[in-house]
Amino acid sequence: MLGKKLQDAFNEQMKNEFYSAYLYMAMAGYFQSEDLPGFASWMRVQALEEMTHGEKFFNFTCETGSRTNLLPIDGPQNNFTKPAEAFEIGLQHEKFVTASINNLMFMAGKDKNYAAQIFLQWFVTEQIEEESSFSLILKKLQRIGEDSRGLLMLDQELGQRAFVPPPAGSSMAA
Ligand code: FEO
Repeated sequence: MLGKKLQDAFNEQMKNEFYSAYLYMAMAGYFQSEDLPGFASWMRVQALEEMTHGEKFFNFTCETGSRTNLLPIDGPQNNFTKPAEAFEIGLQHEKFVTASINNLMFMAGKDKNYAAQIFLQWFVTEQIEEESSFSLILKKLQRIGEDSRGLLMLDQELGQRAFVPPPAGSSMAA
């Protein structure tokens, strides 16, 4: 069972994860409108992953006998001046998520809630990957600059990304 403060913070993080899915779907729509289907596909896969992150928080909250509370989700930015702007915003958002996961880990430590800490461990590692993938693509876009051939090549590369569904089972395994 999560303590009241931790339960509230878990529900807040569940919202952050579902918001991430919403934000990346907005970016997918932008890339689609720019005729960059590979970028759009990459963002859709990212959004699907974020849904699984939100679901992990949902599952863990239920499994610990705590109470879920689905909070309102703000509308994300839908328009971007260029692809690099979308990835810059994505990177800043991931940094925000990393900070909030770290804060949850701190709170769980204070509560001596070791199950919550073990659950959060997965997210601590995942956030390294999340920040790294946004940062890498942003650097590529900065290098490409105004070169439309380079942009189309990157579009093809990003279109290769496939969604790998998490294993079925408990929140710990997913
Ligand atoms: Fe679920 Fe991209 O953090």
